[in-house]
Amino acid sequence: MIRLGVNIDHVATVRNARGGEHPDPVAAALLAIEAGADGITAHLREDRRHIRDADIDRLKAAITKPLNLEMAATEEMVANAIRVRPHAACIVPERRAEVTTEGGLDAAGQIDALRPMVTALRAAGIRVSLFIDPDIRQLQAAASLRADIVELHTGAYAEGKPNELERLRNAAAATTGLGLECHAGHGLTYANVQAVAAFPEVVELNIGHFIIGQAIMDGLTTVVHCFRTLIAEAR
Ligand code: PXP
Repeated sequence: MIRLGVNIDHVATVRNARGGEHPDPVAAALLAIEAGADGITAHLREDRRHIRDADIDRLKAAITKPLNLEMAATEEMVANAIRVRPHAACIVPERRAEVTTEGGLDAAGQIDALRPMVTALRAAGIRVSLFIDPDIRQLQAAASLRADIVELHTGAYAEGKPNELERLRNAAAATTGLGLECHAGHGLTYANVQAVAAFPEVVELNIGHFIIGQAIMDGLTTVVHCFRTLIAEAR
């Protein structure tokens, strides 16, 4: 069965909008696992705009399923990962001004800088995933770096760019010969997930924004009903 990793970053985005404790991304992770998630993904960004260091520590302690830590290729983040020891570290490109991860990691262009980081993470027993565009050069670089996993960036496909599904299919097919486990994610929704989930090589999908957004839509009725009851009971 294909695994579903739930990215809980945007629960923290909502929490941080008010600066308090609610909603708690760790509580959301536990609910997601109870509902059938096979793992939890969280991105500790350099600017800590959503997930914070303490969230990662609490997640690691609380969840019973694998933690996939998304991180930039920096010495600070490698040291963090080695301290926390998530099940997997997914190296993503990160630019301060971006709203979300735009485009895949240029593994081919940064091979020398990435090599010691991949080696250190693997030596600590952490599976290493590289978030790359569906491009054969990037796949070959990931294999040469001895990454365990590639996560194929589905963002361009999700935006409806032409030929992207074909590029993803070809990249997924190439992972087997290169000895890479194949994951995929970014921008996946009810409407576009099935075409990617159908690729036989893809063993894990990581989905965040749509899940958290749709959870608001699905949960709003319950919460409004609950408030109607509470305020009516108060009279
Ligand atoms: N995979 C990776 C590596 C990501 O960086 C993200 C976004 O944080 C996702 C998956 C999930 O993307 P989305 O939030 O669009 O579902």
